[in-house]
Amino acid sequence: MENLISLVNKIQRACTALGDHGDESAMPTLWDSLPSIAVVGGQSSGKSSVLESIVGKDFLPRGSGIVTRRPLVLQLHKIDEGREYAEFMHLPRKRFTDFAAVRKEISDETDRETGRSKAISSVPIHLSIFSPNVVNLTLVDLPGLTKVAVDDQPEGTVQDIEDMVRAFIEKPNCIILAISPANQDLATSDAIKISREVDPKGERTFGVLTKIDLMDQGTNAVEILEGRSYKLQFPWIGVVNRSQADINKSIDMIAARRREREYFSSSAEYRHLANRMGSEHLGRVLSKHLEVVIKSRIPGLQSLISKTIGELESELSRLGKPIAADAGGKLYVIMEISRTFDQIFKEHLDGVRSGGEK
Ligand code: GDP
Ligand code: NA
Ligand code: MG
Repeated sequence: MENLISLVNKIQRACTALGDHGDESAMPTLWDSLPSIAVVGGQSSGKSSVLESIVGKDFLPRGSGIVTRRPLVLQLHKIDEGREYAEFMHLPRKRFTDFAAVRKEISDETDRETGRSKAISSVPIHLSIFSPNVVNLTLVDLPGLTKVAVDDQPEGTVQDIEDMVRAFIEKPNCIILAISPANQDLATSDAIKISREVDPKGERTFGVLTKIDLMDQGTNAVEILEGRSYKLQFPWIGVVNRSQADINKSIDMIAARRREREYFSSSAEYRHLANRMGSEHLGRVLSKHLEVVIKSRIPGLQSLISKTIGELESELSRLGKPIAADAGGKLYVIMEISRTFDQIFKEHLDGVRSGGEK
């Protein structure tokens, strides 16, 4: 089943490649029907930290103010062995093995689209990370929700961010990772507020509670983590990310994960919940959930993909010969999608033959 997610990753990449060729007709429908996971929450709630812990690497730009100003579509690909590397869709064939350079490219590419102002843009940056230490997942990092504009941001930015976030998470195929900091009242959580709007029953929202280590003395998060403060269909997951001081001291991700595990297993309040807390657990839960969702969508995806292939083929023949360079690119994408479609179909059949579950 691990494979299924990487197949969907492939389709998503093919869609984006095609999108870059200027075709706006068929692809958005297909893209929208593929499941993905969006990270939402207030500014500084810990969104980037959670993403980095899931990936197990430092690679996101950080700092005060609005750092994430474009959606980042992050595809994690598990590879069997070898050195981890990253690739951007806008820089095909360039392999990054230095993750500090990845961070710099994200911020440069953000500036290329928005200029050096603090403006935001809904045009996503696509990044793929290949590593033996990740689970197959597609995650979307979104700008943080705010109540007031900062720095020299254009007027309307606060509303623009909210609209952009809503546009992503209102799609029924979007799994919402709602990030709330434990050191603030849950009733004021931006993540809960907006996810409740689009998913009132909490059927596709995962509640993540960050900064548990920063709660006031004498208080704890047990009520929330046990689902008694705000109920979602899925259990809440608490995490302890690196503090700013840890980051300044360059505490690495491995050490941070170990410390996080110890935090939950050694505390009297959380020990009974320890096996379902922490970033590693979160990564596994999300990957598993994504598989279930994808599997349930296979029949719908199949028909949509064949429809898309059909539309592209007729467009190609409309373009006629000689095939322009652009159309050549499309042809490649069609082949890629057809192959992927074929694989999904086979996998599905195998799954059915072996009794449905794999
Ligand atoms: P974002 O704006 O939502 O992406 O938030 P960041 O991930 O950039 O985190 C904002 C600040 O909070 C950073 O200085 C982090 O180090 C810190 N932070 C995030 N999560 C935790 C946590 O669980 N515990 C502690 N102590 N600090 C955290
Ligand atoms: Na931030
Ligand atoms: Mg961030």
